[in-house]
Amino acid sequence: MEANFKRLVIAAYRLPFKFSKTKNGYKTMQNSGGLVSAILALSEKFKKSKDFRVNEKILWAGIDNNIPDDFPSDKLNNKHFNICPVHIPANTNELYYGGFCNDLIWPLFHYFPTYSVFNNNYFKAYEEANTLFCNEIIKVIKPGDFIWIHDYQLLLLPEMLRKKMPDVTIGFFLHIPFPSFEIFRLLPRKWRESIINGMLGADLVGFHTHDYTQHFIKCVKRTTGFECHQNVILTPNKLVKADAFPIGIDFDKFHGACFDKPVVKEKEQIKKQLSGQKLVFSVDRLDYTKGLLLRLKGFETFLEKYPAWNGKVIFNMVVVPSRDNIKQYEKMKKEIESTVGRINGKYSSLSWRPVIYQYKSLSFNELIALYDLSDVGLITPLRDGMNLVAKEYIACQKENKGVLILSEMAGAAAELTEAIIINPVDNDEMAEAICSALEMKTNEKHVRLKRMQDRIANYNVFTWALDFFAQTADAKIQQNQMSVKYVNKQIVSQIKTSYLNAAKRILFLDYDGTLVSFAKYPELAIIDKKTLSIINQLSKDPKNTVVIISGRDKNFLEKQFEGLDVTLVAEHGYFEKKHGKDWKETVNTASNWKSIVMPILKEYVNRCNGSFIEEKTGSLAWHYRNAEMDFAQLRLHELRDDLAEIIRHKTDLEILEGNKVLEIKSGKYDKGQTAANLLKNKNYEFILAAGDDKTDETMFSALPAETFSIRIGKCSSLAKYNVGSYIEFIALLANLSDM
Ligand code: UDP
Ligand code: G6P
Repeated sequence: MEANFKRLVIAAYRLPFKFSKTKNGYKTMQNSGGLVSAILALSEKFKKSKDFRVNEKILWAGIDNNIPDDFPSDKLNNKHFNICPVHIPANTNELYYGGFCNDLIWPLFHYFPTYSVFNNNYFKAYEEANTLFCNEIIKVIKPGDFIWIHDYQLLLLPEMLRKKMPDVTIGFFLHIPFPSFEIFRLLPRKWRESIINGMLGADLVGFHTHDYTQHFIKCVKRTTGFECHQNVILTPNKLVKADAFPIGIDFDKFHGACFDKPVVKEKEQIKKQLSGQKLVFSVDRLDYTKGLLLRLKGFETFLEKYPAWNGKVIFNMVVVPSRDNIKQYEKMKKEIESTVGRINGKYSSLSWRPVIYQYKSLSFNELIALYDLSDVGLITPLRDGMNLVAKEYIACQKENKGVLILSEMAGAAAELTEAIIINPVDNDEMAEAICSALEMKTNEKHVRLKRMQDRIANYNVFTWALDFFAQTADAKIQQNQMSVKYVNKQIVSQIKTSYLNAAKRILFLDYDGTLVSFAKYPELAIIDKKTLSIINQLSKDPKNTVVIISGRDKNFLEKQFEGLDVTLVAEHGYFEKKHGKDWKETVNTASNWKSIVMPILKEYVNRCNGSFIEEKTGSLAWHYRNAEMDFAQLRLHELRDDLAEIIRHKTDLEILEGNKVLEIKSGKYDKGQTAANLLKNKNYEFILAAGDDKTDETMFSALPAETFSIRIGKCSSLAKYNVGSYIEFIALLANLSDM
């Protein structure tokens, strides 16, 4: 794996540093949080590693609020970065960062819906701030740049940039959980559509875990109705990939720092203060997602249940200042302080205080010393996208004596399976875990740590980034393979030339969505006279065979095309009728399955207002076009599951998903097989096939390579070309019929 682009452009809310002026010059201090830690680690390696064949410095776009007004702009850049400051006016930032980001998205995506505040002004500010980012970035972007957008503050930015620069490479990575649809749907419809479409502006959308990726894909399906195949999403304009990339750390940096001189000095000081007592340690930003209060209660339960440890263990809880001007955070800080006071008041002796609470940032050396010296790392978030602290803690166990207690709600729990995994709300479980960690035998600690260290040393922050870059490149390749190629003047003239030169031609035309527009009920979608006369004209030409190939039943088709010299294919290929001949069944299939499936579909009609059943000879179709779309998607999902059970036992059946319709039919036939049969031994010199939905894809894949296959609508397809709508397609047919 290697990075293959000219320059990396990072867009994240925070710049990597706070900038300040000192008496002697200028000072920068690292901003807190996992995102900054990870990208900083990456940038340090960028110049050194041969895997990153990137000549230019990283350009980092972020908000300028940590830059003093009189700070000279040339001092912003350093040896790793060039800085692109984005100015967001203070009142907009308040509604954007304090409001939409941290009063709504942060709590909602971390499953705290009751903390979420829904305010229209928040969303307006969110759009505005994303636009400001977009405007600054387009000023500095160059050909060959890779734009990597990070986190929930910039969910709309990928689409905004894509609109301005259709071909640029964009990756998006979410550092927090992506919630299930049941939570996501709490957002007003317009906001959730904007967020999904915003993210889909990227070529690749990355998450920490497989679960978050699956949640996202479900939300895409239910919000937009776009087709998704595993982790590939087919948007009208392009294919987008979504995948899991568990963020890593710079393992060697942490592992190697344990015996650095300044760290050793720190450790000596801490050891003196500990005077032989065991150390339980935690460090987190101030945040209700981190489970700080419950952690204190778990430690209190430990003191209560295991009195033999009283006087022998200290819990050092470091809380790093963060967002403390937001109401929830401020309130929680006070609660933490009073809980610490209460526990210490209850258990302290003259010579021992069980909880040492510190509200401050730690330097790198202090952090490493504490990771290294502590006997137990107590990392118990209620919900966390990943949690880098847990990985850093493991990396710093050079002497194999620490034990990690980790919440099952942290993304990191999926990788750090040898930690003692606990549920953070279960006080008793946490207390027992602390006791077993303190009493764990050295050999067991060693075995557990070794496995975890191997894993995080292997998939580290560099592998993470390279994997992300490689997958984005892969998405671009797939996009090119499946690119939507619109029928333009040149292609029209190519089709016309080929049509004129051919002595024998065949045209396969789907009905709904191709020759007519969709109507509320299928029986109302009647072909208009003008289109009918175009088809009549085409079919009268002795060189032409016109095939109407549809999912409709035979009676409907016969009525629509009465008297025309066309071949009719009904029910996706079950029936076929040549002009002047009778209908014939192309396959022989039993339909006794209908008595099992029909009651299920009826149940879904009752459970989904507006949906209805259409019965055909060889199939049953559940239409949900007229139902509330979100709700119908939910029912559709359940129906698929119910039917999957039946289909498992009746292997002959298949589920066909068309435009707002789910159909169950025998798998022995489809439009593709029928179309291919009609070509046998016929030597057509011109083949055209047109259709608008998934059922037509079988036809596109079955027909020979020289076919002019056309998918109606702006979406990726196996067809060679696309037209924007059925109207454009009829215009093309009219063109041919005039020749
Ligand atoms: N960290 C920090 N300042 C400190 C202590 C820790 O910047 O005083 C770093 C820590 O090393 C880790 C990051 O902050 O890399 C926290 O990331 P994590 O994923 O655990 O949580 P987040 O803050 O992103 O929610
Ligand atoms: C988490 C988020 C980051 C955020 C960081 C610090 O790591 O995923 O996007 O920057 O916390 O929070 P703050 O509100 O100070 O930016």
